[in-house]
Amino acid sequence: MGNQFGHLFRVVTFGESHGVGIGCVIDGCPSLLPLCEADIQKDLDRRKPGQNAITTQRAESDTCKILSGVYRGKTLGTPICIFIPNADARSGDYDEIAKLWRPSHADFAYDSKYGIRDPRGGGRSSARETAARVAAGAVAKKLTGNLNIRAWVESVHAISMPTVRQTPTLEEVDATPVRCPDIPTARRMEEFIKKARSEGDSLGGVIHCRIEGLPAGLGEPVFDRFEAELAKAMLSIPATKGFEIGSGFAGTCMTGSQHNDPFCLDENGGVCFVKNHAGGVLGGITSGATVDFRVAFKPTPTISKEQHTLTITKESVSFSGKGRHDPCVLPRAVPVVEAMAAIVCADMTLRNLSAKGKEI
Ligand SMILES: Cc1cc2nc3c(=O)[nH]c(=O)nc-3n(C[C@H](O)[C@H](O)[C@H](O)COP(=O)(O)O)c2cc1C
Repeated sequence: MGNQFGHLFRVVTFGESHGVGIGCVIDGCPSLLPLCEADIQKDLDRRKPGQNAITTQRAESDTCKILSGVYRGKTLGTPICIFIPNADARSGDYDEIAKLWRPSHADFAYDSKYGIRDPRGGGRSSARETAARVAAGAVAKKLTGNLNIRAWVESVHAISMPTVRQTPTLEEVDATPVRCPDIPTARRMEEFIKKARSEGDSLGGVIHCRIEGLPAGLGEPVFDRFEAELAKAMLSIPATKGFEIGSGFAGTCMTGSQHNDPFCLDENGGVCFVKNHAGGVLGGITSGATVDFRVAFKPTPTISKEQHTLTITKESVSFSGKGRHDPCVLPRAVPVVEAMAAIVCADMTLRNLSAKGKEI
């Protein structure tokens, strides 16, 4: 089953959007790491719904509880279970969904696969599940310590911010509701999202993420290359449609001489690179350069515009989305991208401990 991610740092998420609650179990987290609910809560607060006028108005505080694996503020090395109750479940909003397949949602696919689905808010397929990933990511960050993992909204529809050399800070990213660190671009994006919502429509875009501070050597060729694990982590987030690392698709329009990243030495005599088209990975193994990647998100499938669809008995009907939803998922997906990146780094760090025979 596909409810687990990671090899040594293993995360299982559980729960449905309008059930009792959601959460995660982390098996493989080493002992003696400092951990308390406040460490997790600050990340959950960045993802929670109802933050501002451009997110869903579902009112969830997403207050987490650590049920196991921690004693007197330290991890025990035993499974860590984190639970987040669902407080604002309004299942009545979703009665109609039980009888039809919403366009671009998972309803038809879940019916086809399981022969049953929880229609309340999309059940298991709802992105509410990503709160559990953010909780697990907060634990992963304890293990990866001094890494700087930072994501931000780079574009919404056709509105893009200029490319930045310097990775934005958390404060710069969170300065606006859109989580785009370029303020004039963020303002334009915000207006465009509000316009789309007022027209009963929705928007997608691109999230850019960087991981700074990773040592050279993480990644397990050939099938578990670092970028392959990262791509899987990112494409497991609902509504994602693309992943690119380093130069990505744009690199196809360069020549080898333009694309290659020459080696050089930094001021301390360490190996570094003149540029970073590789995105921080060579041969599936981190090179010590910044890991740099982008994730594409589609427009939110729930829109209040009238659409054609089929009922579960295959009758043609028109449907418009009711209930609460995000007109653009990107601002709330930023902490989810960071959390999944942290989980990959934690897992790959543990896996790398067995790489060199002489160090065992
Ligand atoms: C943070 C986040 C919030 C989301 N919020 C909504 C929402 O409010 N309404 C909605 O229809 N889809 C939302 N989605 C997207 C759906 O969960 C997703 O598109 C749907 O389950 C179908 O899966 P797929 O797009 O991966 O095929 C959200 C996704 C993320 C990552």
